[in-house]
Amino acid sequence: MGRKSFGFLILGVLIAYYIYEPLPDNVEEPWKIMLLNAYLKTASYLALFAELLGLNHFMESMQFFSSIQGILPTSDQNVTVRDTTFNNIPVRVYTPQQKPKSLRRGLFYIHGGGWCLGSNDYFTYDLLSRWTADRLDAVVISTNYRLAPKYHFPVQFEDVYTALKWFLHPKILESYGVDPGRIGISGDSAGGNLAAAVTQQLLEDPDVKIKLKVQSLIYPALQNFDMDLPSHRENSHYPVLSRSLLVRYWSEYFTTDRSLEKAMLSNQHIPLESIHQFKFVNWSSLLPEKFKKGHIYKTPTPGSSVLAKKYPAFLDVKASPLLADDNKLRGLPLTYVITCQYDVLRDDGLMYVTRLRNSGVRVDHDHIEGAFHGTVSLLFTKVGYIAANQYISWLHENL
Ligand SMILES: *[C@@H]1O[C@H](CO)[C@@H](O)[C@H](O)[C@H]1NC(C)=O
Ligand SMILES: *[C@@H]1O[C@H](CO)[C@@H](O)[C@H](O)[C@H]1NC(C)=O
Repeated sequence: MGRKSFGFLILGVLIAYYIYEPLPDNVEEPWKIMLLNAYLKTASYLALFAELLGLNHFMESMQFFSSIQGILPTSDQNVTVRDTTFNNIPVRVYTPQQKPKSLRRGLFYIHGGGWCLGSNDYFTYDLLSRWTADRLDAVVISTNYRLAPKYHFPVQFEDVYTALKWFLHPKILESYGVDPGRIGISGDSAGGNLAAAVTQQLLEDPDVKIKLKVQSLIYPALQNFDMDLPSHRENSHYPVLSRSLLVRYWSEYFTTDRSLEKAMLSNQHIPLESIHQFKFVNWSSLLPEKFKKGHIYKTPTPGSSVLAKKYPAFLDVKASPLLADDNKLRGLPLTYVITCQYDVLRDDGLMYVTRLRNSGVRVDHDHIEGAFHGTVSLLFTKVGYIAANQYISWLHENL
């Protein structure tokens, strides 16, 4: 063997070693997940390195790396796509090309990305909204909102709420030919958080007369009170969303001060004054038996009230919809929840399912075995493609 081919061999082994990731047995097409993970890992190493050198905030570098997924609004033979604004909030609108036979269904979609990343123009979000508009013969509004670290809570929430309220105005619905009795809201991950939060907010808003028919929450983030759930413990190092990245996203939603992140990582951020709210996120009473197996419940240790006084936002129910009391939950519309087996956010979704059902809200729930966080955006994998179709079929039947 020549020196050159020996060099290539070593390089090949090193690359394989870098890409290889031990994954659970029931994960299909593991190499696709490993390649995606290698890309995400590389981006986050570079972003961490740039932050370490003081060049750029971690999330700003990540925004740069992920912006390559963006595409311009492009109509096809079935769906017209165009960008516009709803009361100054940028939205992408998908309208079926076919002449409407009657008023159409409407869907308001909120993308994920940990309140720091993501955009309605990413090709996976674009494709999902396109399919939804086409298959449901519906008008789909896919909203943007301003992101952290430049903007913190409640800006993300307010932007989404502003665009939603604009859409729900009877004159606007009429101009899009949308049936006011058949409007739904959807979101994934941080978008699922925002969808759940604005749906709760609508219940208390006397200005909005139109009610949502359904909400669908795709692996939503729903609370930051307890960061030591069984799903955090079991799935802390799986691809796409690690526990430490989740904590970073949560804390960046409220502040760039890293002391909140540090307190959240050790699960000692909730002050003594708020511990009565742990009952709303008590996994010991809210998780089905099979997800509790092998875990012992420990009430989180109360943290400093200084942090809570400085950043009271992280205690806000608008950031953690699981903190709403049963009376409020009772008024919520028919709900669809997707959770994934290997996802740190699995238990947020599972606990919301239990709390909604306990409050008398009808919930349909799909738990996807062998899937990681973000699977509905991974349309190039079999499990992601199936999950996206399940989601659209549910909307087709229930919206
Ligand atoms: C448009 O709709 C037709 C009929 O449902 C389908 O066969 C075709 O693939 C669709 N085109 C696109 C670009 O989605
Ligand atoms: C959580 O639930 C368990 C079992 O239902 C109970 O023993 C415990 O006191 C609860 N803790 C809190 C903080 O609600």
